[in-house]
Amino acid sequence: MNARNQPSTNPSVSNHRTNPLVDNHGRTITYLRLAITDRCNLRCAYCMGEEGVDSVGHGQTLSYEELTRLVRWFVASGVTKVRITGGEPLVRRGCIDFMRILKEEVGVEELFLTTNGVETARFLPELVAMGLAGINLSLDTLDPGRFELITRRNYFDRVFLTLEESLQYGIPLKINSVVAAWTTDDEIRQLASLIKERNLTLRFIEHMPFSGKDGPFVPSSEGLLHRLQRLLPGMTELEQSTISTARLFWLPGARGTLGIIEGHSRKFCGSCNKVRITPQGMLKACLYDHGVLDLRALLRNGCSDSELGERVTHCLGNRFGDGRLAEQSCGHHTEPSMASIGG
Ligand code: GTP
Ligand code: 5AD
Ligand code: SF4
Repeated sequence: MNARNQPSTNPSVSNHRTNPLVDNHGRTITYLRLAITDRCNLRCAYCMGEEGVDSVGHGQTLSYEELTRLVRWFVASGVTKVRITGGEPLVRRGCIDFMRILKEEVGVEELFLTTNGVETARFLPELVAMGLAGINLSLDTLDPGRFELITRRNYFDRVFLTLEESLQYGIPLKINSVVAAWTTDDEIRQLASLIKERNLTLRFIEHMPFSGKDGPFVPSSEGLLHRLQRLLPGMTELEQSTISTARLFWLPGARGTLGIIEGHSRKFCGSCNKVRITPQGMLKACLYDHGVLDLRALLRNGCSDSELGERVTHCLGNRFGDGRLAEQSCGHHTEPSMASIGG
């Protein structure tokens, strides 16, 4: 019996298992990303306009009961890792209670949170108590003035408090820094100084324009990896045993780890183990597809678990081989925001 099939120690958790989810390219799905809201308390310039995204009504967003049922089904089908994301997930009332249910009642093995850190610090004790596996914190600069320019909000101190307190609580911490057209060399060096004394992973992310065209945001012709190698001498790539979006590097003298996420270049599609669910309940088999199954409609039409299984399995049996094919086939008429996909 492998670890995934071991009975849960929590008596309220169902141990019923269905077949694992394998796509038409032989990739097994073990990672579910749940965007629970498209609302956010920041207005990052690369993500949304000053006025925010067109938020959908409450009735159009999956309820926590619906989300719980879906997660239960995915866990029974072999998903071991669930990430709660948004928008900013913590702006949705009840997020912490929902996460606790996922850990304690549904039996999610590894529960993670991607957050912008604005409101997160005050929830850390509860997150630790429920056994959260880690936090991915978005932070693109260490300069408070630049932070305000990028996010259109004056919340740098709050985010930095989340960073420091997460470390104090011993929560595994990754910082996500998007490298956009305006990111300066100094900014990159300053961010890298975070890992000198701190035990965290700092990941620089290629900006993804999301339109099939590169627009004004092309990072630079140099490419992100070469830019980092020029600015941070001695980067040495580390071997990794687990599937990951990030390539990891050791930096001389650093306590933490450096990473790079080449999502725009789509370097990790061959081992993609994840599916996404948007706040409105669309199942996405790839970040770049339009959504392959309307789970909300299925649930609200009273589908059974076996019907749900048939529909999801069918979608995964027709999955695009990589993000470029998905993007070419789906094409985006309007640029969707990461806030309504959850990254
Ligand atoms: P870990 O589970 O800690 O490795 O995090 P993650 O990279 O899966 O999730 P996170 O929410 O921290 O996302 C970091 C960045 O990676 C964001 O810019 C995401 O959009 C991007 N990303 C995550 N998954 C994918 C993916 O499947 N394809 C692409 N192209 N980008 C992705
Ligand atoms: N390209 C790359 N990363 C993005 N994120 C948000 N928008 C983009 C984009 N257009 C990042 C955020 C967050 C993660 C979920 O996605 O910084 O850390
Ligand atoms: Fe998976 Fe699509 Fe991302 Fe590639 S681009 S790793 S296929 S979600």
